Amino acid sequence: MQSHWHNMLLFTHCSLVSLFLLSFCASVMRSSPVALADAEALVDTQVLGAIVIARHGDRLEYYQDPETYEGGRTETTALGEVESNQLGSILRSEYLTPTSPSYIDGMRSDLVDNKEIKVRVKNGGEGTVIFDSAIALLQGLFPPNPKNKIVLANGTEIVAPLGGYQYVPVETVEPSNDRSLESWTDCPAFEKHIKEFYSSDEFKEKEKQAQPFFKSVKDFVFGRPTTLKNAWNLYDYMNSQLTHNQTYAYRLPPTLLETARGLADFHETGIFSDKESGGIGNIAGRTMLHTILKSLERVAFNGDPLQFELIETAYQPFISLFHELEIVNAHPELKAIPNFASAFVIELRRGGPPDVRDFLRFRFKNGTGSGFKTVYVYGTHADIPLTEFIFKAKGGEIANNRQWAKICSDSSLTITEQLMDEVSFAARHQTLSTVTLALVAFLSLFIIRNVFSRVAKVATQKYKNVRGKSVRLEGDEVLNVDMTSAQILPDEKIRRV
Ligand SMILES: *[C@@H]1O[C@H](CO)[C@@H](O)[C@H](O)[C@H]1NC(C)=O
Ligand SMILES: *[C@@H]1O[C@H](CO)[C@@H](O)[C@H](O)[C@H]1NC(C)=O
Ligand SMILES: *[C@@H]1O[C@H](CO)[C@@H](O)[C@H](O)[C@H]1NC(C)=O
Repeated sequence: MQSHWHNMLLFTHCSLVSLFLLSFCASVMRSSPVALADAEALVDTQVLGAIVIARHGDRLEYYQDPETYEGGRTETTALGEVESNQLGSILRSEYLTPTSPSYIDGMRSDLVDNKEIKVRVKNGGEGTVIFDSAIALLQGLFPPNPKNKIVLANGTEIVAPLGGYQYVPVETVEPSNDRSLESWTDCPAFEKHIKEFYSSDEFKEKEKQAQPFFKSVKDFVFGRPTTLKNAWNLYDYMNSQLTHNQTYAYRLPPTLLETARGLADFHETGIFSDKESGGIGNIAGRTMLHTILKSLERVAFNGDPLQFELIETAYQPFISLFHELEIVNAHPELKAIPNFASAFVIELRRGGPPDVRDFLRFRFKNGTGSGFKTVYVYGTHADIPLTEFIFKAKGGEIANNRQWAKICSDSSLTITEQLMDEVSFAARHQTLSTVTLALVAFLSLFIIRNVFSRVAKVATQKYKNVRGKSVRLEGDEVLNVDMTSAQILPDEKIRRV
């Protein structure tokens, strides 16, 4: 009995001490925003919507020309699909589950409501890999649901294939007619930036330091040039072999991959960043900013049903955005290549009373092995007001193809050459659209029905920026068709730089 009382007293005592400590901490945190940031003690305000920028999952080796960043061929692997699918499930539990602090209020989660979600997929380098990753992610985000069914006129109930598979419309973005998701290829000013990086003292110094590594790695890269310029290709080859090839994995000495990764991180950070926000080196992030700002505008507008946007892409815009938004100042560890199936999420939140403005919170998840971590933009240490973010981000934004072409145009290109470029762009689209027309017509009544219903929807909802780019994905059999052309509708081919 006595010991019971003793325990009670001790308990009360402890509670009082911890209460005191808590209030002390709270007052310290209020007066010091840095402490607040470290403690991640952010208030769980209402989430109005989220923009997710996701990196594709595992794939085979992907070669990139060190001077132009023109890419080679590559292919998705089952592992990559699993990784992206996992990311989709995690996003589902974060954003579509009512008990989660990041739950998007009012978004339908059992059956997808296509008015609430928009998906854009970079369809340039690593094309099919990124497309497949988007589909795998969506399968995790909106898994098959037996409620996905209809009743026919004759009373028969029809459930969608695969136990109620959910077909989420996907918009592919081709760099040949839209530069927003792949802005760093075919850009002379960016190639000049690459050259400058290669001739910088910093680069030469690093190359000197790396000589012992280049010597020891020769036997494991089979004739690939062992130079710092080629750091991406060395790392990507080694990483891919280590994942897929047991003989290689057994032979590769430890630490070699880590060093290769470090050099690739240095290389990719140097190329996809700039000393200044709004610099040419940040071009990958600056075109992405436009997509972000446009979506935020829509999500924040009460009359627009959009609440979730997925942008499936590659690693370049991650590095570039981390620099452009000045996240790396507080998080230097982000000056690196994100792992496969990484995600950078921008949450739009409604402030709690009395401050009911809209705020943004930024979160990064480095691949499958780690959880979400809140990061801070522009030197802030808390959620940033939407208006302040727009004000700061606008300066770096590249808003359209024309602006992109202007920024990219090197003075060595004459006006006539640029004009010829435009003409050949248009010509290419023309041929493509003829082929596409035939393909689309061939792709069964089902597609056409969906397109019509989409057009009707668009008309009634008065979407502000309709591009007529979305085509529903018709399940497995369509995946065998050349998606590059099958995804394009004739009307979108008119766009040009
Ligand atoms: C109802 O229509 C569907 C589709 O045409 C058909 O497959 C099904 O057999 C019909 N059911 C009955 C009971 O007639
Ligand atoms: C696997 O690694 C071994 C040893 O490095 C190499 O000889 C072989 O060509 C590799 N296989 C493939 C399919 O790349
Ligand atoms: C992601 O994690 C890997 C290790 O798994 C690390 O090397 C890399 O620097 C990290 N990237 C970022 C952007 O944090």
